[in-house]
Amino acid sequence: MKVVKAPFMRRFIRMAADSWEQGWHERNGGNLSYRIRHSEIEPLFDKLVLGVWRPCCVHVPMLAGEFFAITAAGSYFRNIPEDPERCVGIIQLDETGTAYRQCWGFAEGGCPTSELPTHLLNHQVRTLASGGIDRVLHHAHPVDINALTFALPLDSETFTRRLWATISECALVFPDGVGVLAWDVPGSVELALATADLMERTHAVVWAHHGILCAGATFDDAFGLMHTIEKAAAVQVRVLAMGDPRPDQRITDEDVNRLAQYYGLRLSIP
Ligand code: 13P
Ligand code: ZN
Repeated sequence: MKVVKAPFMRRFIRMAADSWEQGWHERNGGNLSYRIRHSEIEPLFDKLVLGVWRPCCVHVPMLAGEFFAITAAGSYFRNIPEDPERCVGIIQLDETGTAYRQCWGFAEGGCPTSELPTHLLNHQVRTLASGGIDRVLHHAHPVDINALTFALPLDSETFTRRLWATISECALVFPDGVGVLAWDVPGSVELALATADLMERTHAVVWAHHGILCAGATFDDAFGLMHTIEKAAAVQVRVLAMGDPRPDQRITDEDVNRLAQYYGLRLSIP
């Protein structure tokens, strides 16, 4: 089987196309990674060409030996469906979780996304927090969640409560809230570490004036989470643009608690 025909790669490519369609990925904006199951990579072993070991810049011992599909640095989501072998690649981590090697893709001299530290540290945190269930990490630059980081105080509680209060489904889709971080340098280990701190307790972290990182068990989960957060953010941006004429007319904290009780949700704010 060709690597691009493997079911996980088809889902990866479809998610990239859908995210591009949403307008979340101008130029090379955003990146996507998937922690590959052993049963998924094994049939592809004869297609892998193992490269040299390179430092990860972070220490992720819980991910030792694991394989990941991950977007290439500088690649455009727009081009992923027609040129996955150049825009995406597969890497494997070494037995210490400090180095990786390229195994497939990254054609024409490419390498993994500049946000590799964030992807690896947050895969480690989500793998531990979810008992191995979470496999997808998606970083994007949606307009309205970014716009809200110019309008609301940059704290997790304010963002979480405002989004829960916007659309009934929000508390159901992200009962563990949304983390928020002040601006930091994209691709830096500092940003990766601060994000991982929050990701122990949530599946979504907003980077002020930049974008958002979402985690999920499946491509559908990660895509749906970002889609829901961004839609609620878009509603809020319109409400604020209208001058928020009726601030008392929204879903209250009490309403959210009733919803949680009805559906047996455990709400938390990271
Ligand atoms: P890459 O092209 O290296 O993935 O960077 C895009 C980005 O969004 C950085 O935050
Ligand atoms: Zn980015």
